[in-house]
This record gives sequence, structure tokens and C-alpha cells, in this order.
Amino acid sequence: MPLPDEFACLLVQRDGNKSITTSLERRPSRELPPGDVVVQVRLSSLNYKDALGATGHRGIVRTFPHVPGIDAWGTVLESASPEFKIGQDVIVTGHELGVERWGGWSELIRVPAEWVLPIPEGLTGRECMQLGTAGFTAAQCVAALQLNGVTPDKGEVLVTGATGGVASLAIKLLANLGYGVVALTGKQDRADWLKSLGALRIVGREELAPSEKPLLSARFAAGVDTVGGPVLASLIKQISHRGTVACCGVAGGAELDLTVYPFILRGVTLAGIDSAWCPLKERREIWSRLAQEWRLEGLDDITETVPLSEVMTVVDRMLAGKHTGRTLVDISGR
Ligand SMILES: NC(=O)c1ccc[n+]([C@@H]2O[C@H](COP(=O)([O-])OP(=O)(O)OC[C@H]3O[C@@H](n4cnc5c(N)ncnc54)[C@H](OP(=O)(O)O)[C@@H]3O)[C@@H](O)[C@H]2O)c1
Repeated sequence: MPLPDEFACLLVQRDGNKSITTSLERRPSRELPPGDVVVQVRLSSLNYKDALGATGHRGIVRTFPHVPGIDAWGTVLESASPEFKIGQDVIVTGHELGVERWGGWSELIRVPAEWVLPIPEGLTGRECMQLGTAGFTAAQCVAALQLNGVTPDKGEVLVTGATGGVASLAIKLLANLGYGVVALTGKQDRADWLKSLGALRIVGREELAPSEKPLLSARFAAGVDTVGGPVLASLIKQISHRGTVACCGVAGGAELDLTVYPFILRGVTLAGIDSAWCPLKERREIWSRLAQEWRLEGLDDITETVPLSEVMTVVDRMLAGKHTGRTLVDISGR
């Protein structure tokens, strides 16, 4: 399949006054970065990192113009790698996609072959994007709890930022595996929805309000934290003996104001989760679990799809903390 002369993408630009603009643009294909595999993208998704990238956040975007999109599913158009054939369906998630390198909110991406995976057997390309980096991260969190000996009989698991993409998928995964899940949310009106995902009960953010105390009553066996900041600090203080918190997010703050007491008196483990640079062997294992024994039904119930031309309205919702579930970005339907 010949490479088209140009492609459409959502371009983030910074003008001379340093103000950020986003627009649907056509760019010549020669502007694609170097790499082994060119993919014609069909679907991407919206993750918190994309919302930051789409608004030119300096922690994500180092050079302008920029194309967001840390997830992509599509068809190989060109391949210099014997591992990938023209016409094959593949996914690319994480690494530098949509961060250092133009990402999946685009008709075309060009990436190193090491970043590309065949569609995991048991999943469709669409399901891969419904899960996307959010589902992959949620699964990494669950794997970290298991690795540290957190079994369902140990007690309840608190999931923070519960209505978000990572958290909603973590709730579904944990509930399917038999864990008693408590959902912490700022959106009490989504309580029924969270229960439909598998949460046993819902608690408001005020229940994890900051406290001066180094330790609080032990209420949870484990946690999956997508929020960070004071919520994470308070959660760690409420973890019971030998429990684990998988820490992946920063939606509520990056600081962590704690003493060492939860770690040295209760043996709590803080497990860091890094989906972007997860090594290939573990990456394959996580996707294989998501496709097989951890396979999730009902993904359509937590997913909306928007054309690329409308994604910025959902970005605004996400940055205002009003987004729920997962959003697919339809590249062909732009
Ligand atoms: N480490 C990794 O590999 C990795 C991978 C993926 C994502 N992440 C991080 O994980 C986090 C969640 O990502 P996502 O894509 O799931 O985002 P998302 O869909 O926007 O979910 C974030 C959720 O956090 C809660 N929240 C938002 N603002 C908050 C605030 N100021 N204080 C407390 N809670 C707040 C909201 O849930 P409620 O309204 O229900 O409380 C929101 O739905 C982000 O920080 C993202 O960067 C990390």
C-alpha cells in the first residue's frame, strides 16, 4: 500500500505569544518522524496524558507542533521489520507515542518496531482501544497487588478517582477477580454507575481528607490510586498490615506528604506503576491477561466515541474533572 502524500491530524501549536491552539490540519507525510513501521490509524483514545498534551502542558509536550494520542490501533502501511506485514492490524500504546513523538490523533503514525504489538488474541482492535493505556495501567495495578500477596480474603480495596478511565477499569477487573471494591469519587451522582461496574460501596473524597496524623485506622487491605497528592497520603495511612497501594496517577496532585510509619510499622508497600515504559515481556503478559483470563465484558457500557474534530470538548471535560469512563477517538470519522 503506497503511503499517501499527506495525512490529517490534530495539531497542537504554540504561537509567538506562547498561546496554545489546536486545529485539524493536513501535513505532508514526509514530516512523520523516522521509524520502522507506518500505521494507518483507525481508532485512538483519550487518556489524562492526552488531555494535558492537547493543551500544550509543558510536562508532556517538549516540542511544537505536537500531535497527541498515546494509544493507536490501525493497519500497517509500511514496514521495515520482518515482524510486521503490510495490511496487518496492530496496536501501539505508551512509549513516546503522543509525547516525544507525534501520536495517534492522526491518520498516520510512524514508530519503532519495538513499540508495535499484534492485536492480542482474544481481543478486537476496538476493544484494545476501549482498554487502551487506561486498561493496561489498571491491569498493571491489579498485577502489582497480586504480586504483593493481596488476595480477596485480605479485605477491601479502595480505588480512587473512581469514575476515571483507569479507575473504572480497575474496579471492573478487581470485582471480576472477587475483590471487595470500594470506590472513592467526587461524583456522588455516579454511585449507581460505579456499583454497576462492581463497586460494593461508594465513599466521597472527604473520607480521605488530609490529616496531620502519621497513621489512621486501618480500613483497607489495598488501594489503586489514580489521584496522588493528599488522597494518596491519606490512603497509605489507612492501609492494613502488609497491604499494598498501586500508585499510578496525579489527577489530584503530585506531592506526597507522609512519614515512614505506614511502611516501617505496618509493612505497607507502595508499588509504582509506569505503563509507558513497561518492558516488552511484561507488556505482552499484561495484554495477554486482558485478552484471556481477565477479559472484561460490557466495555461498550463505559465507552463513548467521538470524531477527532470533537475531541477537544471532551478534553475540556476531562481537565475539569467531569469525565467518566473511556472515550474513543475515531480517526476515520473525523
Ligand atoms: N502511571 C501510569 O502509567 C499511568 C497510566 C495512565 C494514567 N495515569 C494517570 O492516572 C490518572 C488517571 O488517568 P485517567 O486517564 O483515568 O484520567 P481520568 O479519566 O480523567 O480520571 C481521573 C479521575 O480522577 C478524579 N479526579 C480528577 N480531578 C481530581 C482532583 N482534583 N482531586 C481528586 N480526584 C480528582 C476524577 O474521578 P472522580 O470524580 O470519580 O473522583 C477523574 O475522573 C492520571 O493522573 C494519569 O496521568 C498514569
